[in-house]
Amino acid sequence: MQIVNTVEEVRRQVKAWRKEGLSVGLVPTMGYLHEGHKSLIDAAVRDNDRVVVSVFVNPTQFAPNEDLESYPRDLERDAALCEAAGASLIFHPEPSEMYHEGYSTFVDMRTLTQVLCGKTRPIHFSGVCTVVSKLFHIVTPDRAYFGQKDAQQLAVIRHMVEDLNFDIEIVGCPIIREEDGLAKSSRNTYLKEEERKQAVILSQALKEGQELIRQGERNAETVKKAIREKIETMPLANIDYVEIVNFKTFENITELQGEFLTAVAVYIGKTRLIDNFIMTL
Ligand code: PAJ
Repeated sequence: MQIVNTVEEVRRQVKAWRKEGLSVGLVPTMGYLHEGHKSLIDAAVRDNDRVVVSVFVNPTQFAPNEDLESYPRDLERDAALCEAAGASLIFHPEPSEMYHEGYSTFVDMRTLTQVLCGKTRPIHFSGVCTVVSKLFHIVTPDRAYFGQKDAQQLAVIRHMVEDLNFDIEIVGCPIIREEDGLAKSSRNTYLKEEERKQAVILSQALKEGQELIRQGERNAETVKKAIREKIETMPLANIDYVEIVNFKTFENITELQGEFLTAVAVYIGKTRLIDNFIMTL
């Protein structure tokens, strides 16, 4: 497995693979890889002849008050995980390789990005769409892999690929969880012992919401209220949002029907965690 830092090296390698008629999968990440990322790499290795994993903590998707500086990084460990999983190449650029001086082109989506995480993090999805577009141009993969853990991101990327005619298949992968239900995340390392215990409330509350719906509840407000109340039983939990939206349009729904996304963002202490489930009725 190679680790390269420049766009030129990636291009050279991908061209060589193409000449041999090999297919290429891409797994974009910000590193500090865990089982969630590994599940995407596993899927990519299954579907493609060669797999590129990008490891890049993308500065344009962080607001000034967010955790760009403290975001955990460990390339050595990431490389070991990628190699064991069967990836062929890690692309690990410096910020200056991706954003040269005077960089000024951004990909802005007018729908889907103003709600949920986009409301709390107004520049976030512009940064995500921009860096993912760049990665798509650099790697030109046949397929790219994204987790449902970031359901809004997955929907935004699918929409962008359609809008901008990227000839790339987007593959969505299920949420990988810790034994107690907490969705795996690089940010879980921020949690202190007591916070880690209370963080389980996100998945527990969502499970309760899901159960209510299974029992026949169809009023979105009632389900959201139950989820909120469950989360509020934890003293360290501070709700950012609890929302139920149509999974195509991301518009709020009042009556549960069709394919909908139930998503939560909760601060546990200072750490902002997200989780969700998608259901079709
Ligand atoms: P990052 O948070 O590192 O996540 C990389 C990919 O791993 C995303 O597609 C995310 O949904 C997926 N992932 C993370 N935790 C997961 C879990 N528990 N189960 C399944 N999949 C999981 O998302 C980003 O990076 C960035 O925004 C990026 C797309 C790389 C653009 O910078």
